[in-house]
Amino acid sequence: MRIPENKIEEIRSAVNIVDIISEFINLRKRGKNFLGICPFHNEKTPSFTVSEEKQIFHCFGCHSGGNVFKFLMEYEKISFIESVKSVADRLGIQIEFEDQQNPEKQSEQEILYDVNDFAAKYFSDILLNENEGEIGRKYFHRRKIKTQTIRAFGLGFASFKRDAFVEFAKNRIDLEKALQLGLIGKGNEGHLFDKFSGRIIFPIDSPNGRVVGFGGRILEKSEYTAKYLNSPESIIYTKGKVLYGLSHAKDEIRRLTKVIMVEGYMDLISLFQNGIKNVVAVSGTALTEDQVSLLSRYTKNVVLLFDADIAGVKASMRSIEILLRKDFEIKIASLPKGEDPDSYVNQFGREKFDDLIKLSVSFHEYQTALYEAEGYFTDSSRSAEAIRNLVKSLSFMEDELKRNFYIKNISKRFGLREKLLESELDKILMKENRQDKSPKEKTQSYKVFPNKEIKITPEVQFLERDIILLFLSGNIDLIKFIFNHISPKDLIIELNRKTAELVFEEINNKNSFEVASVIDKIDDEELKEYLHKLSIDKYSISSSWEKLYPGKDNYSVLSKVCMDTMKKFRTVQIDNQINDILVQVKDATSEDQGVELLHILNQYHADKKRLNEEFI
Ligand code: GTP
Ligand code: MN
Repeated sequence: MRIPENKIEEIRSAVNIVDIISEFINLRKRGKNFLGICPFHNEKTPSFTVSEEKQIFHCFGCHSGGNVFKFLMEYEKISFIESVKSVADRLGIQIEFEDQQNPEKQSEQEILYDVNDFAAKYFSDILLNENEGEIGRKYFHRRKIKTQTIRAFGLGFASFKRDAFVEFAKNRIDLEKALQLGLIGKGNEGHLFDKFSGRIIFPIDSPNGRVVGFGGRILEKSEYTAKYLNSPESIIYTKGKVLYGLSHAKDEIRRLTKVIMVEGYMDLISLFQNGIKNVVAVSGTALTEDQVSLLSRYTKNVVLLFDADIAGVKASMRSIEILLRKDFEIKIASLPKGEDPDSYVNQFGREKFDDLIKLSVSFHEYQTALYEAEGYFTDSSRSAEAIRNLVKSLSFMEDELKRNFYIKNISKRFGLREKLLESELDKILMKENRQDKSPKEKTQSYKVFPNKEIKITPEVQFLERDIILLFLSGNIDLIKFIFNHISPKDLIIELNRKTAELVFEEINNKNSFEVASVIDKIDDEELKEYLHKLSIDKYSISSSWEKLYPGKDNYSVLSKVCMDTMKKFRTVQIDNQINDILVQVKDATSEDQGVELLHILNQYHADKKRLNEEFI
């Protein structure tokens, strides 16, 4: 079923998000916004904010947010279509559904999602209903997985026949797409075959619950095939950006403000079946920065529960660094030798499992205990090495207070002077940040286009942020004014550039821009969160600037800000270009080249002069 775009927009703009949310939650007016206790995580002081002006909600505690439809989807656990219907019902608006026979041009991504859905349904059907699925059903029975759980995770089984899926799919879907998704392969003579045949199937979801790929496990241990086969990466699947189980776990993670991280698919599924639902699995690969960023939208408290083997210990150590850099509170729980979370919970049950989690220790204690167990503290040179490593871990933390706490801890425990440890830490910190000389010049590293890390000055950060806030104001004249002076690719911070591209496209297509109207069409979770957060941001552009221009109405303030921002932004841009040229002038190898460069330099200076005349 599909509801026409313009109908969705009509419904959304006819309702006030504050009215809808107030049906469920007590909201109090606070300045421009409304504030209440967040329904998506446990909190005592309200951080759930609703902007009437922008028709967006955002929680500063758990980072959930979106427009009115998103709220209903999350609150009432319903689909997007259902939430649109539910608002329409309240307003007495009739919805006519679009004809599905006439699937308007689907995006490439949509087509791939559909092919994965098709395959997931096929595998699940075999497992649940077909004769050849019997062996799969037996397998899950042996592993104590109930039918209900199989359904919840959409688990499946692929027939042993080497081309069962190819045969089933060939007149139903575009096999080229199935090839692209790694569901099937092509032999040397061009024949097609199933990639997952004879395997137990774990569909891998995006955080929104769409199938992006599959993991397939062999039934019996074999020397000849890998235990697990995973879908290759595709335009809908980037391995380092997905955490298995997150779509199932995210609500519970928010509610409990804590996540348990395990290694395997089966670990997660068994825990879930035992009522422990705030779990994600890294599934075999090393934890990535992107996965941690993704997780940080739901919580920053993590318990690592990796297998009790050497690989598990190594995985914990590596993960600690990445998690610390993103400011996570890390605890580590340990399993008895030879167990994994799945075997443990099935053998000992929920209560014992909870005890195990309660016994988890801080990353620092964990590391110390590990060095102790390996005998590091029995001789002085290895002891120094261990302490240096402990201090090095602290250097990954941004928060000085936290670092201090652990320094004290090490000092007490090993009878070392705090000063000594601090200077060791400083040495490491200096090495890491040797680029930034004084705190004043300190810059932050952002992901920038095209995909390289460069240092961005605070000035650029503020200017770009103001540009985005001007976009979010939705004022068409101002937005057009901005695009008369810069293009989206002039913004160098990746999220800002993506936002600008989005706004640019909306303005070109619809001659208007409103966050609440576009936000549920965005695929990029990070971008979505960025936008709803900024829509409510306490440092909203008008409130900070109103102070500078007291008595002026909102529009005049915004136009003034817009002019100032454009002028400054262009100035910085030209200054950067001038600096570039100056460097090149120094390195110039011939006189001709030098003259050419000076010519360009003059043009930049002229640009700057014009800029000063253009904007007063
Ligand atoms: P069970 O043996 O069924 O309990 O699975 P497990 O999840 O406990 O497996 P294990 O602890 O061996 O591995 C943990 C995770 O690593 C798995 O869930 C997979 O995601 C991944 N993994 C394990 N073996 C392989 C492999 O051979 N290839 C790939 N690509 N991934 C693997
Ligand atoms: Mn296992």
